[in-house]
Amino acid sequence: MQTQHINDFEYKAFLNEVGLQKKHLIFPIFVQEEEKESKISAMPGITQTPLKAIIKQVYNIMDTGISSIIIFGIPDKRNGKGSFAIDKNGVVQQALKKIKREFGNSLNVITDVCVCQYNLSGHCGLVINNKVDNDSSLNLLSKIALSHVEAGADVVAPSSMMDGQVYSIKKSLKEYGFQKTKILSYSAKHLSSLYMPFRSAAYSKICQFDMLDKSSYQIAYTNPRQILREIETDINEGADMVMVKPGIVHLDLVCRIKEKFGFPTAVQSVSGEYAMIKAAAMHGWIEEEGWKVSSLASIKRAGADRIISYFSMDIATYLDD
Ligand code: PBG
Ligand code: ZN
Repeated sequence: MQTQHINDFEYKAFLNEVGLQKKHLIFPIFVQEEEKESKISAMPGITQTPLKAIIKQVYNIMDTGISSIIIFGIPDKRNGKGSFAIDKNGVVQQALKKIKREFGNSLNVITDVCVCQYNLSGHCGLVINNKVDNDSSLNLLSKIALSHVEAGADVVAPSSMMDGQVYSIKKSLKEYGFQKTKILSYSAKHLSSLYMPFRSAAYSKICQFDMLDKSSYQIAYTNPRQILREIETDINEGADMVMVKPGIVHLDLVCRIKEKFGFPTAVQSVSGEYAMIKAAAMHGWIEEEGWKVSSLASIKRAGADRIISYFSMDIATYLDD
């Protein structure tokens, strides 16, 4: 096993040098309807939190000085139309109401807006005649976003990769008087097996998550010009911030986006990035702290304005502010 030559003081210095601050960090939480907390085996240390334990979890997050979270919902009920996603008493809507009642504006609450957790296919849009149907999914996505905002979300983050998702969400939020609500668009969401640990948690009960093919809507990593066009489209549709994911292997795109558009950009370091570091570290094959620090530091160095990471709470302990 590799010996550790670097101490906490040096990690602090590295993070400081790239300019990472607590306000850049977002911590993801899985909220589930089921009452018994469950662990995610591919993500050691990460749990699916039942609604009744959600406030305690948010206190733990805020204790580290992080004031921004993103919520992923794991519902109990699903159907072909994904209609439980817009339920006023749905899992995300209930979590939002509880969290906002307790923390008010001291916490910035983002929600992942998608269909996949709520339907029977695990796809991010509605499946019609065996195909993911872009346009009928837009209407549902707008309603999901609206229901989140009504329940207290500060920012909605559409992650379905349907064309026009930002435009239609923006339009319906405006119609209902929520023109101030921010949209963080998952603009450059690459087709990747690095979402598998997430999928094992979110859809293992509904489909064979390791067989899902999302290539008709998630983008390929090989064509940076197309990716920049996706970014530009989302900016034109009214996104307040765009996102690149996974983080690892796509950081050149963050640089290019910042250079070309100078637009607020977030990076999501996804479940598989967490799983890879955790798994190798558990074997003693890599040194966990060093990799956590350097992976988030490099995302910041590339130019990310915000970082969503399952390591956010760990990294916050190295940061003074
Ligand atoms: C839902 C969603 C996914 C992720 C974020 N939102 C899964 C997917 O698109 O298949 C992945 C996050 C992660 O792996 O940490 N659309
Ligand atoms: Zn989805």
